[in-house]
Amino acid sequence: MNVRRITVLISGAGSNLQALIDARDRGDLQVEIIHVISNHAAAFGLERARKAGIASSVLEHATYPERADYDRKLAELIAEADPDLVILAGFMRIVGPAVLRRFAGKLINLHPSLLPLHRGINTYERAISSGDTEHGASVHFVTADLDAGPVISQVRIPVEPQDVPATLAARLSPREHQLLVATVELFSHCSVQCQHGVITLNGKVLDQPLVLKSNGAF
Ligand code: GRF
Repeated sequence: MNVRRITVLISGAGSNLQALIDARDRGDLQVEIIHVISNHAAAFGLERARKAGIASSVLEHATYPERADYDRKLAELIAEADPDLVILAGFMRIVGPAVLRRFAGKLINLHPSLLPLHRGINTYERAISSGDTEHGASVHFVTADLDAGPVISQVRIPVEPQDVPATLAARLSPREHQLLVATVELFSHCSVQCQHGVITLNGKVLDQPLVLKSNGAF
């Protein structure tokens, strides 16, 4: 089934959420953004959702001492709106088994590195200190291992000799937005499945991540 209804999980600024909203408003993305969930009440992305008329919820992890309780609550909250696809867009929590089980094959994450390089945090610093000549962002299916699920799509940018983490992040950000929009768009017009670690696009195995071109398409 092609994706029509998406839920977006955020923790902060929500610039990627905004990119999805803008693409939807331009008519470039044929999906309904049905729910935004944040684990921080102060996340600016909640304001973006409100302005766009999108239902939003806050589920503060700090109020759940047990990780498994938070995970179960989160699974229930996501399920209430019955999304076809759940997007972790700057959601800075590891999702646990209750969410993974309930939304298997429907959970994707945006990560600012060329996976499998630099899983986890501080990816810009690590790309520069490793002497990488390229950096980028990846969209992958979420599995139990952090940032290790099958990669659907990537965008690559050069690392310049004078780059510091902030300049690299600033250059990647607009490309990352395009990557997320193009990937969600793909889900809206193709069947993108992930079974036993293998991704198929309309039934055809994807053996390499799709790479975003400079025109914002794959
Ligand atoms: C993005 O860089 C994303 O790759 C990372 O967190 C950041 C979120 O930015 N996981 P925003 O909240 O969408 O502005």
